[in-house]
Amino acid sequence: MSKVDVLLGLQWGDEGKGKIVDVLARDYDIVARFQGGPNAGHTLVFDDKKYVLHSIPSGIFQDETINLIGNGVVLDPLVLQEEVAMLKLAQVDVSNKLLISKKTHLILPTHKLLDAAHEKRKGKAAIGSTLRGIGPTYTDKMARSGIRVGDILLPDFEDKLQKLIKKHIELLDWMGFPHDIEASMEHWYGAIELLRSLQIVDSEYYLREQLDAGKRILAEGAQGTLLDIEFGSYPYVTSSTTIASGACTGLGIAPSDIGSVFGVFKAYCTRVGGGLFPTELDGDIGEAIQRQGNEFGATTGRERRCGWLDIVALKYACMLSGVTELYMMKGDVLSGFEEVKVCEQYIRDGQKQDTVPFDMNEFTEPVYKAFPGWKDDITKIEKWKDIPEQMRDYIAYIEDKISLPISAVSVGPDRNQTINKS
Ligand code: GDP
Ligand code: IMO
Ligand code: MG
Repeated sequence: MSKVDVLLGLQWGDEGKGKIVDVLARDYDIVARFQGGPNAGHTLVFDDKKYVLHSIPSGIFQDETINLIGNGVVLDPLVLQEEVAMLKLAQVDVSNKLLISKKTHLILPTHKLLDAAHEKRKGKAAIGSTLRGIGPTYTDKMARSGIRVGDILLPDFEDKLQKLIKKHIELLDWMGFPHDIEASMEHWYGAIELLRSLQIVDSEYYLREQLDAGKRILAEGAQGTLLDIEFGSYPYVTSSTTIASGACTGLGIAPSDIGSVFGVFKAYCTRVGGGLFPTELDGDIGEAIQRQGNEFGATTGRERRCGWLDIVALKYACMLSGVTELYMMKGDVLSGFEEVKVCEQYIRDGQKQDTVPFDMNEFTEPVYKAFPGWKDDITKIEKWKDIPEQMRDYIAYIEDKISLPISAVSVGPDRNQTINKS
């Protein structure tokens, strides 16, 4: 029987998942997003054009691949509408290759207001949310008061919707947060009409049938392991399960359905939003990485803070998801540094440690190992053997430390700037 391969981020998001899904999608019949929502921004570059996807899976540009928005996702119909329009301009017609689960929860305009209200109340301790309504929508899901895509096909949809909006307005009033939702609701209803015209399915049955028929499925994660609601740097996390087990609940597949788990990581670390990370670099080097890596958020345009690769966190991420192979992204960004560093251990309370601490947001001192940098421009390299020796040493060191193979390295944003080991 066929398996579902899972692809996910191993750091704080923006590892380059979208690029790799686009590269791999040609080998899959179906690409399925399993969690998160339009807080995600997955960038694809090919034919000198750049596309950013927020809710639609990154296999959408492959002619033969079906793309599914899974039940574990939270969907903003307004964002979906924009993405469908963007794809139309790019000559991609989603009508026969985009499926949406009936059980996907809907983001309402009031969820976005609640997101902003919660962040305001948190003051200095704000999460740095993308303000896309993610937390409040998952909150309603867990509180059993959410609205799902399948509801829009039922006669009591309006009734359910009004009840939920009433609750949201009461909450906003209680928090003293201003709201004027009339105009945004009008647009939202328009986007619901578009959603009604798309293929809304019982995705768990659909995926089972496809697996039984031997079809190949790739599950696409959003965010990253250190933003996971259970195991990330809580409370500076997102509100969904970003690790491999999220693919089971987010798609309705069994643990035994999972095949390979592809872990995507950058050759360094970045983070956007609140919360510390041990290897963060405040000075010139951090700025140089940010500049060379063009580290600005694909969704919000915010600056991404940069630092060296963190092996302790990477190992933790691979453990949590049972990663079977690695993809190292943005190797080109580290070109030109005299030396590159990797954090091998942490120091907490004067003690060296190899594990991620409970309170990840307290200061943690990294213990670094330094490597000679690689000078050459590697963005045009096509073969593994042409990778500079220093970078190969860096790769070999990571493989050894994590005890997993790096299957490919990425040396530029374009689909073609991907070098497979074999
Ligand atoms: P995702 O959220 O994990 O899909 O990643 P994002 O799209 O948010 O961020 C990754 C950014 O790095 C995007 O701008 C990509 O176009 C870009 N990118 C991906 N791989 C590489 C690479 O190997 N080198 C460089 N220079 N940029 C890359
Ligand atoms: P992709 O899929 C990077 C971060 C936000 C904030 C925290 C909570 O592109 O990798 P939320 O909007 O979920 O309430 O924000 O999580 N965050 C991301 N950071 N990449 C993402 O997605 C992110 N999605 C959320 O910046 O710190
Ligand atoms: Mg992103």
